[in-house]
Amino acid sequence: MTDRILIVDFGSQVTQLIARRVREAGVYCEIHPFNTITEESIRAFEPKGVILSGGPASVTHQDTPRAPQELFEMGLPVFGICYGQQTMCAQLGGSVEASDHQEFGRADLELTASSALFDGIWDLGERDQVWMSHGDRVTALPPGFKVVAQSEGAPFAAIADEERHFYAVQFHPEVVHTLRGEKLLRNFLHQVAGCTGDWTMAAFREQEIAKIRAQVGDGKVICGLSGGVDSSVAAVLIHEAIGDQLTCIFVDHGLMRQNEAEQVVSVFRDHYNIPLIHRDASDLFLGELAGVTDPERKRKIIGGLFIDVFEEEAEKIGGADFLAQGTLYPDVIESVSFHGGPSVTIKSHHNVGGLPERMNMKLVEPLRELFKDEVRDLGRELGLPEVLVGRHPFPGPGLAIRIPGDITREKADILRKADAVYLDEIRKAGLYDEIWQAFAVLLPVKTVGVMGDSRTYEYVCGLRAVTSTDGMTADSYPFEHAFLSRCATRIINEVRGVNRVVYDVTSKPPGTIEWE
Ligand code: XMP
Repeated sequence: MTDRILIVDFGSQVTQLIARRVREAGVYCEIHPFNTITEESIRAFEPKGVILSGGPASVTHQDTPRAPQELFEMGLPVFGICYGQQTMCAQLGGSVEASDHQEFGRADLELTASSALFDGIWDLGERDQVWMSHGDRVTALPPGFKVVAQSEGAPFAAIADEERHFYAVQFHPEVVHTLRGEKLLRNFLHQVAGCTGDWTMAAFREQEIAKIRAQVGDGKVICGLSGGVDSSVAAVLIHEAIGDQLTCIFVDHGLMRQNEAEQVVSVFRDHYNIPLIHRDASDLFLGELAGVTDPERKRKIIGGLFIDVFEEEAEKIGGADFLAQGTLYPDVIESVSFHGGPSVTIKSHHNVGGLPERMNMKLVEPLRELFKDEVRDLGRELGLPEVLVGRHPFPGPGLAIRIPGDITREKADILRKADAVYLDEIRKAGLYDEIWQAFAVLLPVKTVGVMGDSRTYEYVCGLRAVTSTDGMTADSYPFEHAFLSRCATRIINEVRGVNRVVYDVTSKPPGTIEWE
């Protein structure tokens, strides 16, 4: 059997990042919410090791999440992260206290004792950057444990019971800000738990194809294509699994980017020969969105209309039992708690939380546990062309969430043009692939300008470009000033309706990538 790692989810926003790092290390893993795990379920899963995630709870309160006590008597290597460390300590006889100040952000970690966890990564006495995000902290170690690393704010930043193969850290090795965190996790997986690391994206492809076949049987599936990477990869994967049982539907909600509809139709119908229905539903969507300003309402309306249209179209082809979507993990974690786990909602991404309860079709979401770049790898594994695989992400609700305030066809047209000019400049400058996502936003604000000898009173266009590895965190792209000036000049000259351009320098967090 393939080596397996069990990740116990205590509700951290970044639990899936742990899973992703484990996959990157070539090891199969599954995330299970803490409240579904029992001694029996662990035995049935047969993991080679267990990772306890972080989470928002405090072990100092009553009745907070715990790992099954038996986990610590099964002879399995266990790695606790943040809350995982705290519950491990509390459950094994150490103590944890709420501290006066929270520690959030970069910290300097010093290795104070040698440990299998740090073998070949950090030398004794060496310091390196780690990422902290916690309120409580461990104040006394359980019997058998020693401190192996510390930071200024966390004297028990890394602890180990080498004999029982229990390791725990206060910081988050799964995030990129912990510079050597990935290596640390690899050490746990390969050296401590003895996993071989032979699991690959090709194995994922086979596994998902088998899962899709088992889920769908001889049912019919329709797949909403958006022109983005995710729905394209999902469609090709599902087509590989079930062939003509799949029909793709491209719903043009009037909030697509320039030329998007034509591109999607040509790629799927002509290149892949996958049955595709193209439905222009722009009047319907723009009509229902008229006057709606609340971002969550917009998402819910769009999610609802998508389902209406899919159901109508499904009817026309004699019914469908399943709706396939290219939902990714970051859409899931920020919309609903994953696997029923205990995290909080940031936005209802239309792929997930925006779907109406009444939907008749069941969902097929083969990418639900993947991050964007993993989806790109899967796309390459499936032989998709690089232009499609490398495309910047585009959200399901489209330009609707890039027009804060009320949405009109006129505004969508203005934004489409500005966005096309901006992306054209980015491509010309050879920056497209360096940037995770770039787009224009049309602000609901008009400002005064002067063009020629006339006064203008037009909209403000915001430009956004971010770098990111997974969309969970992002930094504003540091364009040269001259580049931004060039974009501003072109947009104002070429797009009627805009007379001012601004650049968004907010990172995520505290901002999000999209404006709504
Ligand atoms: P945020 O704005 O949450 O975006 O930082 C993170 C990534 O998700 C994309 N996004 C969406 N994708 N449906 C989608 O399919 C949505 O409703 C949605 N909202 C945001 C966003 O473009 C970025 O890549």
